[in-house]
Amino acid sequence: MATHVSCFNPGPAKVPKSVLKKAQDEFTNFQSTGMSVVELSHRSKDYAEINSQCEDRLRKILDIPSNYKVLFMQGGGTGQFSCLPLNIRRGESPVFDYIVTGTWSSKAAAEAKKYGKVNMVFPKPEKFTSVADEKTWKLDPEASYVYYCANETVHGVEVLNPPDTGNVPLVCDMSSNFLTCKVDVSKYGAIVAGAQKNFGAAGVTVVIIRDDLLDTAHPMCPIVMEYKTTAANKSCYNTPPTFCIYLIGLVFEWILEQGGVEAMEKCSAAKSKQVYDLIDKSNFYWSPVDPKYRSRVNIPILLGSPSGNADIENLFVQKATEAGLIGLKGHRSVGGLRASLYNAVSEEDTDRLVKFMIQFEKESAN
Ligand SMILES: Cc1ncc(COP(=O)(O)O)c(C=O)c1O
Repeated sequence: MATHVSCFNPGPAKVPKSVLKKAQDEFTNFQSTGMSVVELSHRSKDYAEINSQCEDRLRKILDIPSNYKVLFMQGGGTGQFSCLPLNIRRGESPVFDYIVTGTWSSKAAAEAKKYGKVNMVFPKPEKFTSVADEKTWKLDPEASYVYYCANETVHGVEVLNPPDTGNVPLVCDMSSNFLTCKVDVSKYGAIVAGAQKNFGAAGVTVVIIRDDLLDTAHPMCPIVMEYKTTAANKSCYNTPPTFCIYLIGLVFEWILEQGGVEAMEKCSAAKSKQVYDLIDKSNFYWSPVDPKYRSRVNIPILLGSPSGNADIENLFVQKATEAGLIGLKGHRSVGGLRASLYNAVSEEDTDRLVKFMIQFEKESAN
């Protein structure tokens, strides 16, 4: 195995080295407390400081308006598939609008069905390679919310512009593209994102939610899933994942040091352009996704022919792994390769990948 590794894992994924180093340096003695972060009481002053610093940094990065709460929850992105329909409800028999563009929004819609009626904004397509024309969408004006996934991690379909939903709150799963580009939070009722792709380790999920949506939970909503209770207790109703929250706070600090979300956006555009330029020039690599919706962060790639070739793809993954390029195998449900270019993946990592792809194509032609 190569000693210099570039990690393109889809999640859990790369964390900036300087963040890992800082966490390592502080691990056994956090800021002269004589204790590790994992040993601090979640009711202590030291932990309260970690929690509020983490929130402040995120508010600064995204310029989050004061009428939004920032919550740190457990249960992952999947937990939010249940939290959203359990918390954001209009009327006795709520309807939830779902824009389904891939695996993750499909799962979210299936879960929401347990808690109300799901209106599919357009029929589920056979293939997730594009998004149905907005003119064909059927939104329900009485819906509790409209849900979409900003970036489908498996299919590489990214929706950058928030859909216009009028007075119906817009709810978004940004798990795989959170903090990779600017977002106007005021356009959303709620934003949810798991940490393990762009801003830390698995175990904490960020929820950003507008104040007026805190009061509508189903009475049977489990208390740890209740947004209102989580907000009223500053994400400390029960023991929070303290180390994960500490770590995302360090990643937020790193993002601010790099120049904020603007710098992340620039870097994300440059990295993905390099890979797509190569794909578009070659007769060996193919992207199955409509160019209008190509993800900047998860790039599915087919090899050898426009429909892929499993033998060539397996060989690519094997050789890439030997060369220290890790995590490039496509999701088992779609095959091919997938390059995940999250925030911590550097332009240097991407250069290495592109050079490797060029070399592999040459070798395959011989
Ligand atoms: C877009 C998206 N949403 C939700 C999830 C589910 O997250 P978790 O595994 O944390 O439940 C994932 C996981 O990869 C994801 O990519």
